[in-house]
Amino acid sequence: MQIYWDYNATTPVDSRVLDKMLPFFNQYFGNAASNTHYWGWTAAEAVKEARGIIAECIGAGESEIVFTSGATEAINLALKGAAEIHAPGGNHIITVQTEHKAVLDTCEYLSERGINITYLPVNHDGLVDTEEVKRAFTPGTFLVCVMMANNETGVIQPIREIAAIAHQHQAWMMSDCVQAFGKVPLNVDDLGIDIMPLSAHKFYGPKGVGALYLRRRNPRVKLSPLIHGGGHEKGLRSGTLNVPGIVGMAKAAEICMETLMPEYRRLEALRNRLESFLIEKGEAKINGSITQRLSHVSSLSFPSVKSETLLSRIPQLAISSGSACTSALQSPSHVLMAMGLSEAEAYGSLRFSLGRFTTEDEILRGGEILLKALQTTVKS
Ligand SMILES: Cc1ncc(COP(=O)(O)O)c(C=O)c1O
Repeated sequence: MQIYWDYNATTPVDSRVLDKMLPFFNQYFGNAASNTHYWGWTAAEAVKEARGIIAECIGAGESEIVFTSGATEAINLALKGAAEIHAPGGNHIITVQTEHKAVLDTCEYLSERGINITYLPVNHDGLVDTEEVKRAFTPGTFLVCVMMANNETGVIQPIREIAAIAHQHQAWMMSDCVQAFGKVPLNVDDLGIDIMPLSAHKFYGPKGVGALYLRRRNPRVKLSPLIHGGGHEKGLRSGTLNVPGIVGMAKAAEICMETLMPEYRRLEALRNRLESFLIEKGEAKINGSITQRLSHVSSLSFPSVKSETLLSRIPQLAISSGSACTSALQSPSHVLMAMGLSEAEAYGSLRFSLGRFTTEDEILRGGEILLKALQTTVKS
């Protein structure tokens, strides 16, 4: 009877992905760096194929993909690695107040070490103003880091326009595409993205594996490594490769691409249905842009309720009251606060993120459960 509406926090591994991964645990278990025997060659071949698949999904080349343990590591590698390469002349990063904590905390770390960080504001829709981006540059700006789609609201930033501005100033364009990959079409050349972190567990792949796209030409992105060791991944990320994870990530990506637009529209219809019901019956308000957002996400604020109290009454619904990574903290969502919501509105907000296994029946049933809890919570 449980309903899972927290696909932005993580997704289940698709059974086709699991089937693809299993032989790589005990049958083709070789170390991809062992280049003297069959087991090593088989593992290396599987990694090469996976690299090609992920690259193709974003219009990149195979040699532009570095495998990591996830997006947090990829983001750390990108930000810290770029800062080290550009020091001491390059000393300024432009980012946004509504980025994921993986970006914000890494920027905080860098700012304690002498890098200047501009945190751009967003408007009430959660969108960055490109005029603000233009004004933020200094002679030392080496990187602009703006996420494609927000994990809490699903709001999609005007990345193509921002990337063009970054390039006019000879700065690299980094975009956290963790929530957008597998949901909307992404092409690094079309969008002008030079650095793109990805995470498999957000698109029905396994946890503990991610990738970092790094443009090789015009501009050539060069980073200092974070992890030193055997020189894997061209020296950028040493450590024995997680072959089953990498194979699973590629299979998961492939499956997403096969059904990208039909699935986008299916989830949009379900999301809109749930939203209309909660707006009409529960007086909910949508947080963020209605037109520029992912189709499976809805951030809603409910009047005069605390989302934590509401959630404690509906254990059968898996919903988030903010981003999963910050939900342990008792502070209002930094994303919603940056969008100008009041503390009460932020504390009264819920994030619904639907996914591959969401059904119409769940939408109807879950909507009613939520409404009932809402009415009794408001009254008490
Ligand atoms: C937008 C965004 N960036 C980065 C991350 C971190 O990804 P990972 O779990 O792979 O470290 C997440 C996960 O919550 C996310 O939603």
